[in-house]
Amino acid sequence: MPRTAIYPGSFDPLTNGHLDIIHRSMGLFDRLVIAVASNVRKHPLFDMSERIALIREVVGHDARIEIDTFDGLLVEYAQRKGAIAVVRGLRAVADFEYEFEMATMNRRLAPTVETVFLMTHESYFYVSSHLVKEVAMLGGAIDAFVPPAVARRLNARMGELRAKPA
Ligand code: PNS
Repeated sequence: MPRTAIYPGSFDPLTNGHLDIIHRSMGLFDRLVIAVASNVRKHPLFDMSERIALIREVVGHDARIEIDTFDGLLVEYAQRKGAIAVVRGLRAVADFEYEFEMATMNRRLAPTVETVFLMTHESYFYVSSHLVKEVAMLGGAIDAFVPPAVARRLNARMGELRAKPA
C-alpha cells in the first residue's frame, strides 16, 4: 500500500517555505496530496483556480504528487484519500499553539490520521504568505521568498490592484 500524506493549506500563494515542506514530505511518503482549502475564513487574494495553477506550475509533473481542493473537515477528506498522515510545516514558536490545537482537534475527530510536523529550512522561518503579500503590496522585493512564477503573478496582481480606481 502506498503511504499517502495530505499537505493542506490555503496556499495564498505558495511560498518557498511551502515548497521546502513539499520536498521534505516526498522523502517520507510515497504519495502527497497538496490540498488547497476552499473554505478558508480569510478572503484569499488568489482564487482557487489561480492558487492551483501556480502550485502546478511550480511543482511540475510528478506522478507522486496530486494537487486537489477540499472543503469540509480535513480529516474526513484525508480518510477519503486513504491518507495515513496530514503534514504541516512548523516555522517557529508562534505557529505552535494554532497547530497544536488543530492537530489535537483532528486527532479527536479521527484518531487514525496522524499529524506530522516538519520544520522548514531555517532560511524560511520568517516567510509566510501573509507577509509576502504585504511586502509585495508595499512595493518590496519578494523574489527571495517565493518561486519565480509566484513572484511574477503576485507582482502583476499588485499592479492590477494599484491601478484600480479607489
Ligand atoms: O495554510 P493554513 O491557512 O494555515 O491552513 C489551514 C487549514 C486549511 C489546514 C485548516 O483551516 C483546515 O484544516 N481547514 C479545514 C476545516 C477543518 O477540518 N477544520 C477543523 C480542523 S481543527
